[in-house]
Amino acid sequence: MKTYNVITIFPEMIDAIFSYGVIYQGIKKNLININPVNLRDFTKDKHKTVDDYQYGGGQGLLLKPEPICDAVKSIKTNDKNTHVILLDPRGKKYTQSVAQRLLEYDSITFICGRYEGVDERVRKLVVDEEISLGDFILTGGELAASVIIDSVARLIPGVLGDEMSFHEESFRDGLLEYPHYTRPYEYEGLRVPDVLVNGNHKEINEWRYKESLKITLQNRPDLLKHKALKVESSGFVSQIVERFEKGVSLYVALLHYPMVDKHGDIVATSITNMDLHDISRSCRTFGVKNYFVVNPLEAQREIARRVLTHWQEGYGATYNPNRKEAFEYTIIKESLSEVIEFIETKEGCRPVLVATSAKDAPNRAKLEPFLKENFDKPILLLFGTGWGMSEDLMKLVDVIIEPIKGAGSFNHLSVRSAVAIYLNKINGLLGGNKDEQQAN
Ligand SMILES: C[S@@+](CC[C@H](N)C(=O)[O-])C[C@H]1O[C@@H](n2cnc3c(N)ncnc32)[C@H](O)[C@@H]1O
Repeated sequence: MKTYNVITIFPEMIDAIFSYGVIYQGIKKNLININPVNLRDFTKDKHKTVDDYQYGGGQGLLLKPEPICDAVKSIKTNDKNTHVILLDPRGKKYTQSVAQRLLEYDSITFICGRYEGVDERVRKLVVDEEISLGDFILTGGELAASVIIDSVARLIPGVLGDEMSFHEESFRDGLLEYPHYTRPYEYEGLRVPDVLVNGNHKEINEWRYKESLKITLQNRPDLLKHKALKVESSGFVSQIVERFEKGVSLYVALLHYPMVDKHGDIVATSITNMDLHDISRSCRTFGVKNYFVVNPLEAQREIARRVLTHWQEGYGATYNPNRKEAFEYTIIKESLSEVIEFIETKEGCRPVLVATSAKDAPNRAKLEPFLKENFDKPILLLFGTGWGMSEDLMKLVDVIIEPIKGAGSFNHLSVRSAVAIYLNKINGLLGGNKDEQQAN
């Protein structure tokens, strides 16, 4: 039997929490012994005082050291393998692997802080380990102790009915868990995936592993960084890992046809020198794989080619090598279908076509969920010129992303600014901001 003592000023809280569910069953089966210890029983004054003011001033009371240390010492046990834990936001962060480690102890005593916490000397005198549940502040250690007891006790053999049920759960394998389904087969138009009903266990396991990987990549990529992934025979896993390591494959195309002019007529617009320079620089800065300047008119493409050649191979390349670098991935194309073909050949699959528009509408997709859904595919961001892309062109795309919102009703960004702002947002959402990553 494993024993968990909880030193607290609210012992009834602990009794209440463990009066339900599988932990309660475990207590009845004598697999677990949960022993709340009332801190007030270890006070020596008639008011049963457990707290006092801080030396040096400062708001809030502290739990006094003597009752806590006396309570710890009073816990007599025949268990050899014992451990004392202080719940504290200063402690090491609690994870499933800590739960697994704590399972090794025959008895654990938890000290629950209250108010501003405990006198510092408690840590030195009786505490073996300090644990925090996470970067937030609770009003007391009772919930934290209960969370730890719950997550450790359920690992004790015999506590969970089906021993297998924790073999495959989240964190066990360094991955988050795959989706589960139960009856009915179809609910609100959503069906159980075919693979789960075909009875082929090899395929089911493979599907579950892939889904676990996908969910972990979307929600907790930090877990994957610490995990040596087994590369499966199916190319999917290595492909997804490769994509994760390389970052999202992002492409940008600046379209000049079919655009709308100020009368609503369909026109081909002209390439501008500013769009060539500034968008190339933004794309290079944010790691876009290629920037395509798309124009159906040969004369226009010729002007653009001359600008690029000047900066890539001519006098400009030595005059400003930095600009040569910015233009390295800029490509002139005649049509959108040529761009799609180019990306398909390079990536092995068709890119997701994402239109941008200054006009808001109910069908606009939000950037963050869109990226989470599509991180494993190449993404082609389409930008228009003139008065924007034609309706017909908009109908061809997979998704129209929400516009960049300004401070007021005036919203007329240059396409160059819009590209830079979208790329900066995407970079932030994909964790590309190095300063932010370091701060984390
Ligand atoms: C209001 S908190 C004290 C916070 C403390 N002054 C600080 O800023 O670190 C009172 C008690 O709740 C418990 N507690 C609060 N947040 C916790 C967390 N994230 N993990 C574990 N215990 C926590 C601790 O036992 C703590 O002593």
